[in-house]
Amino acid sequence: MFNFIYDSGMDKTVVNQLETNQASKHSSGNIRVNLGSLSGKILLFGGVYSNLQALEKLKQIAEAQNIQPENCICTGDIVGYCAQPEEVVQLFKIWGAKSILGNVEIQLRDGAEDCGCDFRKGSRCDGFSQMWFPYAQSKLSKSSLDFIATLPNHMDFRFAGKDITVVHGDYFNVSEFVYKSTDWPIKQANFEATGADVIVAGHCGLPFNQEKDGKTWLNPGVIGMPANDGSPQVWYAILEEQNGSFQFTHHTMEYNYKLANAKMQNDFLPQEYARTLITGIWDNTEILPPYESGLQGFGIQL
Ligand SMILES: [Fe+2]
Repeated sequence: MFNFIYDSGMDKTVVNQLETNQASKHSSGNIRVNLGSLSGKILLFGGVYSNLQALEKLKQIAEAQNIQPENCICTGDIVGYCAQPEEVVQLFKIWGAKSILGNVEIQLRDGAEDCGCDFRKGSRCDGFSQMWFPYAQSKLSKSSLDFIATLPNHMDFRFAGKDITVVHGDYFNVSEFVYKSTDWPIKQANFEATGADVIVAGHCGLPFNQEKDGKTWLNPGVIGMPANDGSPQVWYAILEEQNGSFQFTHHTMEYNYKLANAKMQNDFLPQEYARTLITGIWDNTEILPPYESGLQGFGIQL
Protein backbone atom coordinates (compact mmCIF):
# COMPACT_ATOMS: atom_id res chain seq x y z
CA MET A 1 0.00 0.00 0.00
CA PHE A 2 1.27 3.49 -0.79
CA ASN A 3 -0.03 7.03 -0.77
CA PHE A 4 -0.20 9.60 -3.53
CA ILE A 5 -1.90 12.91 -4.19
CA TYR A 6 -5.16 12.79 -6.12
CA ASP A 7 -6.61 15.97 -7.57
CA SER A 8 -10.27 15.39 -8.32
CA GLY A 9 -11.10 19.02 -8.89
CA MET A 10 -11.71 19.40 -5.15
CA ASP A 11 -8.99 20.16 -2.65
CA LYS A 12 -6.00 17.93 -3.06
CA THR A 13 -6.41 14.96 -0.80
CA VAL A 14 -4.33 12.03 0.19
CA VAL A 15 -5.39 8.83 -1.44
CA ASN A 16 -4.53 5.25 -0.77
CA GLN A 17 -3.88 3.08 -3.77
CA LEU A 18 -4.58 -0.49 -2.73
CA GLU A 19 -3.08 -3.53 -4.30
CA THR A 20 -4.99 -4.51 -7.41
CA ASN A 21 -5.89 -7.89 -5.98
CA GLN A 22 -8.15 -6.06 -3.52
CA ALA A 23 -9.83 -4.01 -6.23
CA SER A 24 -13.43 -4.84 -7.00
CA LYS A 25 -14.01 -6.80 -10.13
CA HIS A 26 -15.74 -3.92 -11.87
CA SER A 27 -13.31 -1.18 -10.95
CA SER A 28 -10.01 -0.65 -12.65
CA GLY A 29 -7.86 0.71 -9.87
CA ASN A 30 -9.09 1.44 -6.40
CA ILE A 31 -8.96 5.14 -5.60
CA ARG A 32 -9.62 5.83 -1.93
CA VAL A 33 -9.93 9.50 -0.95
CA ASN A 34 -9.43 10.72 2.60
CA LEU A 35 -11.57 13.79 3.30
CA GLY A 36 -10.00 14.33 6.72
CA SER A 37 -12.09 15.44 9.69
CA LEU A 38 -15.57 16.81 8.96
CA SER A 39 -17.74 18.86 11.28
CA GLY A 40 -21.31 20.11 11.24
CA LYS A 41 -24.25 18.12 9.86
CA ILE A 42 -23.51 15.57 7.13
CA LEU A 43 -26.10 14.59 4.53
CA LEU A 44 -25.79 11.02 3.18
CA PHE A 45 -27.68 9.74 0.17
CA GLY A 46 -27.36 7.41 -2.78
CA GLY A 47 -28.89 6.33 -6.08
CA VAL A 48 -29.98 9.55 -7.74
CA TYR A 49 -30.66 7.33 -10.78
CA SER A 50 -31.01 10.28 -13.21
CA ASN A 51 -34.00 11.56 -11.19
CA LEU A 52 -33.59 15.34 -11.52
CA GLN A 53 -36.65 16.25 -9.47
CA ALA A 54 -35.40 14.20 -6.49
CA LEU A 55 -31.91 15.74 -6.67
CA GLU A 56 -33.35 19.26 -6.87
CA LYS A 57 -35.41 18.61 -3.74
CA LEU A 58 -32.52 17.12 -1.81
CA LYS A 59 -30.33 20.11 -2.68
CA GLN A 60 -33.09 22.39 -1.35
CA ILE A 61 -33.21 20.39 1.89
CA ALA A 62 -29.43 20.68 2.30
CA GLU A 63 -29.56 24.42 1.71
CA ALA A 64 -32.51 24.92 4.08
CA GLN A 65 -30.57 23.11 6.81
CA ASN A 66 -27.39 25.00 5.97
CA ILE A 67 -25.50 21.79 5.18
CA GLN A 68 -22.49 22.75 3.09
CA PRO A 69 -22.08 20.96 -0.29
CA GLU A 70 -18.79 19.41 0.85
CA ASN A 71 -20.73 17.75 3.69
CA CYS A 72 -23.21 16.18 1.25
CA ILE A 73 -21.98 12.71 0.31
CA CYS A 74 -23.42 10.29 -2.25
CA THR A 75 -22.82 6.52 -2.27
CA GLY A 76 -22.85 6.42 -6.10
CA ASP A 77 -25.21 5.61 -8.99
CA ILE A 78 -25.83 9.27 -9.76
CA VAL A 79 -27.01 7.97 -13.14
CA GLY A 80 -29.66 5.26 -13.52
CA TYR A 81 -33.18 4.36 -14.52
CA CYS A 82 -34.82 7.79 -14.87
CA ALA A 83 -35.08 10.36 -17.63
CA GLN A 84 -32.53 13.10 -17.05
CA PRO A 85 -28.97 11.76 -16.69
CA GLU A 86 -27.24 14.77 -18.23
CA GLU A 87 -29.18 17.32 -16.18
CA VAL A 88 -28.56 15.31 -13.00
CA VAL A 89 -24.79 15.07 -13.49
CA GLN A 90 -24.54 18.76 -14.32
CA LEU A 91 -26.61 19.77 -11.28
CA PHE A 92 -24.55 17.47 -9.06
CA LYS A 93 -21.37 19.08 -10.40
CA ILE A 94 -22.66 22.64 -9.94
CA TRP A 95 -23.91 21.85 -6.42
CA GLY A 96 -20.46 20.63 -5.34
CA ALA A 97 -21.61 17.57 -3.39
CA LYS A 98 -19.23 14.62 -3.19
CA SER A 99 -19.68 11.12 -4.53
CA ILE A 100 -17.93 7.86 -4.99
CA LEU A 101 -18.29 5.75 -8.13
CA GLY A 102 -21.32 3.47 -8.33
CA ASN A 103 -21.27 0.52 -10.67
CA VAL A 104 -23.19 2.65 -13.18
CA GLU A 105 -20.51 5.37 -13.21
CA ILE A 106 -17.75 2.77 -13.60
CA GLN A 107 -19.51 1.23 -16.59
CA LEU A 108 -20.17 4.66 -18.15
CA ARG A 109 -16.59 5.74 -17.55
CA ASP A 110 -15.32 2.53 -19.16
CA GLY A 111 -17.72 2.65 -22.14
CA ALA A 112 -19.24 -0.70 -21.16
CA GLU A 113 -22.38 -2.22 -22.64
CA ASP A 114 -24.32 -2.84 -19.44
CA CYS A 115 -24.89 -1.34 -15.99
CA GLY A 116 -22.57 -3.76 -14.20
CA CYS A 117 -25.15 -5.09 -11.76
CA ASP A 118 -24.47 -8.67 -12.90
CA PHE A 119 -28.18 -9.31 -13.28
CA ARG A 120 -29.01 -12.84 -14.35
CA LYS A 121 -29.29 -13.07 -18.14
CA GLY A 122 -32.93 -12.97 -19.16
CA SER A 123 -34.09 -11.55 -15.83
CA ARG A 124 -36.44 -8.57 -15.79
CA CYS A 125 -33.75 -6.26 -14.37
CA ASP A 126 -31.37 -7.39 -17.12
CA GLY A 127 -33.97 -6.60 -19.80
CA PHE A 128 -34.75 -3.19 -18.31
CA SER A 129 -31.06 -2.29 -18.08
CA GLN A 130 -30.76 -2.93 -21.82
CA MET A 131 -33.10 0.05 -22.19
CA TRP A 132 -32.03 2.60 -19.57
CA PHE A 133 -28.27 2.10 -19.75
CA PRO A 134 -27.91 2.84 -23.50
CA TYR A 135 -30.37 5.73 -23.05
CA ALA A 136 -28.15 7.24 -20.35
CA GLN A 137 -25.04 6.69 -22.46
CA SER A 138 -26.68 8.50 -25.37
CA LYS A 139 -27.56 11.53 -23.25
CA LEU A 140 -24.33 12.18 -21.37
CA SER A 141 -21.98 14.91 -22.60
CA LYS A 142 -18.21 14.67 -22.58
CA SER A 143 -18.25 17.20 -19.74
CA SER A 144 -20.39 14.85 -17.64
CA LEU A 145 -18.31 11.79 -18.49
CA ASP A 146 -15.17 13.75 -17.58
CA PHE A 147 -16.75 14.59 -14.22
CA ILE A 148 -17.68 10.96 -13.61
CA ALA A 149 -14.08 9.97 -14.34
CA THR A 150 -12.89 12.13 -11.42
CA LEU A 151 -14.88 10.17 -8.83
CA PRO A 152 -13.03 7.84 -6.43
CA ASN A 153 -14.03 4.27 -5.54
CA HIS A 154 -14.18 4.91 -1.80
CA MET A 155 -14.06 7.83 0.63
CA ASP A 156 -12.89 8.01 4.22
CA PHE A 157 -13.57 10.72 6.76
CA ARG A 158 -13.50 11.20 10.50
CA PHE A 159 -16.59 12.51 12.27
CA ALA A 160 -17.64 12.63 15.93
CA GLY A 161 -14.83 10.33 16.95
CA LYS A 162 -15.61 7.71 14.30
CA ASP A 163 -13.63 6.58 11.28
CA ILE A 164 -16.13 6.35 8.44
CA THR A 165 -15.68 4.71 5.03
CA VAL A 166 -18.09 5.19 2.13
CA VAL A 167 -18.50 2.27 -0.29
CA HIS A 168 -21.03 1.48 -3.02
CA GLY A 169 -21.93 -2.23 -2.78
CA ASP A 170 -19.27 -3.31 -0.36
CA TYR A 171 -15.55 -2.61 -0.08
CA PHE A 172 -14.57 -5.66 -2.13
CA ASN A 173 -17.19 -5.55 -4.90
CA VAL A 174 -18.96 -2.45 -6.16
CA SER A 175 -21.91 -4.61 -7.27
CA GLU A 176 -22.38 -6.56 -4.04
CA PHE A 177 -25.95 -6.34 -2.72
CA VAL A 178 -25.65 -5.96 1.08
CA TYR A 179 -28.95 -5.93 2.97
CA LYS A 180 -29.92 -5.87 6.62
CA SER A 181 -30.45 -9.64 6.38
CA THR A 182 -26.98 -10.16 4.89
CA ASP A 183 -24.88 -12.21 7.31
CA TRP A 184 -22.83 -10.09 9.71
CA PRO A 185 -19.53 -11.88 8.93
CA ILE A 186 -19.78 -10.52 5.38
CA LYS A 187 -20.12 -7.02 6.82
CA GLN A 188 -17.45 -7.72 9.44
CA ALA A 189 -14.88 -8.46 6.71
CA ASN A 190 -15.45 -4.94 5.39
CA PHE A 191 -14.73 -3.38 8.78
CA GLU A 192 -11.56 -5.43 9.09
CA ALA A 193 -10.34 -4.50 5.59
CA THR A 194 -11.06 -0.79 5.89
CA GLY A 195 -10.38 -0.17 9.59
CA ALA A 196 -13.65 1.79 9.73
CA ASP A 197 -15.97 2.13 12.72
CA VAL A 198 -18.85 3.02 10.39
CA ILE A 199 -19.41 1.86 6.82
CA VAL A 200 -21.78 3.92 4.71
CA ALA A 201 -22.98 1.87 1.74
CA GLY A 202 -25.44 2.08 -1.14
CA HIS A 203 -26.40 0.00 -4.21
CA CYS A 204 -29.13 -2.22 -2.74
CA GLY A 205 -31.77 0.55 -2.78
CA LEU A 206 -33.08 0.02 0.76
CA PRO A 207 -32.25 2.14 3.82
CA PHE A 208 -31.20 0.30 6.96
CA ASN A 209 -28.76 0.31 9.82
CA GLN A 210 -27.16 -2.45 11.80
CA GLU A 211 -24.86 -2.16 14.81
CA LYS A 212 -22.74 -4.90 16.32
CA ASP A 213 -19.53 -5.06 18.34
CA GLY A 214 -19.16 -1.27 18.22
CA LYS A 215 -19.37 -1.21 14.41
CA THR A 216 -22.18 0.36 12.37
CA TRP A 217 -23.31 -0.49 8.84
CA LEU A 218 -25.44 2.38 7.55
CA ASN A 219 -27.26 2.50 4.24
CA PRO A 220 -28.98 5.90 3.80
CA GLY A 221 -31.11 4.52 0.96
CA VAL A 222 -31.59 6.08 -2.46
CA ILE A 223 -33.38 9.21 -3.63
CA GLY A 224 -34.00 8.18 -7.25
CA MET A 225 -36.47 5.35 -6.58
CA PRO A 226 -38.82 4.53 -3.68
CA ALA A 227 -37.85 1.79 -1.24
CA ASN A 228 -40.43 -0.84 -2.28
CA ASP A 229 -42.52 0.14 0.74
CA GLY A 230 -45.65 1.30 -1.06
CA SER A 231 -44.84 5.01 -0.74
CA PRO A 232 -43.41 7.34 -3.41
CA GLN A 233 -41.23 8.96 -0.75
CA VAL A 234 -37.50 8.36 -0.93
CA TRP A 235 -34.80 8.12 1.74
CA TYR A 236 -31.63 9.83 2.93
CA ALA A 237 -29.75 10.09 6.24
CA ILE A 238 -28.11 12.76 8.37
CA LEU A 239 -25.09 12.43 10.65
CA GLU A 240 -24.77 14.72 13.63
CA GLU A 241 -22.50 15.10 16.61
CA GLN A 242 -24.55 15.49 19.77
CA ASN A 243 -22.88 15.97 23.14
CA GLY A 244 -19.69 14.70 21.57
CA SER A 245 -21.20 11.45 20.31
CA PHE A 246 -21.96 10.13 16.84
CA GLN A 247 -25.62 10.04 15.84
CA PHE A 248 -27.43 9.16 12.63
CA THR A 249 -31.05 9.59 11.60
CA HIS A 250 -33.00 8.27 8.61
CA HIS A 251 -35.36 10.61 6.78
CA THR A 252 -38.00 10.38 4.06
CA MET A 253 -38.32 13.00 1.35
CA GLU A 254 -41.36 14.14 -0.61
CA TYR A 255 -40.57 15.44 -4.09
CA ASN A 256 -42.25 15.98 -7.45
CA TYR A 257 -42.44 12.30 -8.41
CA LYS A 258 -45.32 12.98 -10.80
CA LEU A 259 -43.02 15.13 -12.94
CA ALA A 260 -40.22 12.55 -12.70
CA ASN A 261 -42.75 9.96 -13.91
CA ALA A 262 -43.95 12.20 -16.75
CA LYS A 263 -40.38 12.72 -17.95
CA MET A 264 -40.06 8.93 -18.30
CA GLN A 265 -42.96 8.63 -20.72
CA ASN A 266 -40.96 7.69 -23.81
CA ASP A 267 -40.13 4.55 -25.75
CA PHE A 268 -36.59 4.31 -24.41
CA LEU A 269 -37.13 3.80 -20.70
CA PRO A 270 -38.83 0.96 -18.78
CA GLN A 271 -42.37 2.06 -17.97
CA GLU A 272 -42.33 -0.38 -15.06
CA TYR A 273 -39.75 1.86 -13.34
CA ALA A 274 -41.82 4.95 -14.18
CA ARG A 275 -44.78 3.35 -12.40
CA THR A 276 -42.61 2.52 -9.38
CA LEU A 277 -41.97 6.24 -8.86
CA ILE A 278 -45.69 6.61 -8.18
CA THR A 279 -46.66 3.32 -6.55
CA GLY A 280 -43.57 2.87 -4.40
CA ILE A 281 -43.60 -0.81 -5.34
CA TRP A 282 -40.76 -2.36 -7.30
CA ASP A 283 -41.63 -4.25 -10.50
CA ASN A 284 -39.95 -7.35 -9.13
CA THR A 285 -37.97 -8.52 -6.13
CA GLU A 286 -35.55 -10.79 -7.97
CA ILE A 287 -32.51 -9.14 -6.36
CA LEU A 288 -33.96 -9.25 -2.83
CA PRO A 289 -33.34 -11.89 -0.13
CA PRO A 290 -36.50 -13.51 1.28
CA TYR A 291 -36.64 -11.23 4.34
CA GLU A 292 -36.58 -7.98 2.37
CA SER A 293 -38.79 -9.43 -0.39
CA GLY A 294 -41.44 -10.26 2.20
CA LEU A 295 -41.56 -6.63 3.33
CA GLN A 296 -42.73 -5.36 -0.07
CA GLY A 297 -45.46 -2.79 0.48
CA PHE A 298 -45.29 -3.07 4.27
CA GLY A 299 -43.02 -0.16 5.02
CA ILE A 300 -39.36 0.04 5.93
CA GLN A 301 -37.90 -1.83 8.91
CA LEU A 302 -34.96 0.31 9.93
FE1 LIG B 1 -25.37 0.31 -7.85
